[in-house]
Amino acid sequence: MTVTEAITARRSVHSYDPDKHVSDEQLRELIELSTLAPSSFNLNHWRFIVVRSEEGKTKLHEASLNQKHIKDASAVLIVLGKIDAHTDVDRFIPDWIEKGYYPDDKHLRVVSGKFYGLNPVVQRDEAIRSTSIMIGMMMLAAKERGLDTAAIIGFRPPEVIEAFEIPENYMPVMMLTVGYEKTPPPDRVKRLGYDDIVHAERFEPGKG
Ligand SMILES: Cc1cc2nc3c(=O)[nH]c(=O)nc-3n(C[C@H](O)[C@H](O)[C@H](O)COP(=O)(O)O)c2cc1C
Repeated sequence: MTVTEAITARRSVHSYDPDKHVSDEQLRELIELSTLAPSSFNLNHWRFIVVRSEEGKTKLHEASLNQKHIKDASAVLIVLGKIDAHTDVDRFIPDWIEKGYYPDDKHLRVVSGKFYGLNPVVQRDEAIRSTSIMIGMMMLAAKERGLDTAAIIGFRPPEVIEAFEIPENYMPVMMLTVGYEKTPPPDRVKRLGYDDIVHAERFEPGKG
């Protein structure tokens, strides 16, 4: 399957076959592949809580306005963004330098200190941005492997944080159900057209 085919075939699946299992090896492959995604300053903001148990899924189901596909999916990934990922620079600096990206750690320390360290909004935005790009790739990699997914943000974060003991320097960015589709969704809902969304050179009045 080409990337174009995966993009075209991917849908948000709300009806999973509860009897079809996605193995730990399949999930591992998916996670290892998807985390080749870019992240801001390669800070790898993503973390995953893999939920398979009935007990865990029930907690997620309750925190998520009872969205049924959470229970039927083979696994639900709670995708976390590390809000203070900039404090991890020392895990990456030697590799950057060894591979010749930077002569020393000066630039990266400014990034982690002034750019991120002083700006909680940027920290949070980055945790969401970098993690979201990775999730998009994961959806396509899953499709290529015959797996189906659905992103979920319809949940109450405080309940998820409490139930899954998530430390305060991480945020649940999104959940992703993974499994095998049972019933295909209806036709894809429409997208805005090119002319509705593309502006030439500056923001064009009348478009939005
Ligand atoms: C960030 C994000 C959050 C979403 N959250 C939910 C959700 O909580 N529940 C749900 O049923 N669908 C959710 N969706 C799925 C969208 O409704 C779906 O992508 C959209 O209707 C287009 O359908 P398609 O993905 O099949 O093309 C979410 C999608 C994204 C990208």
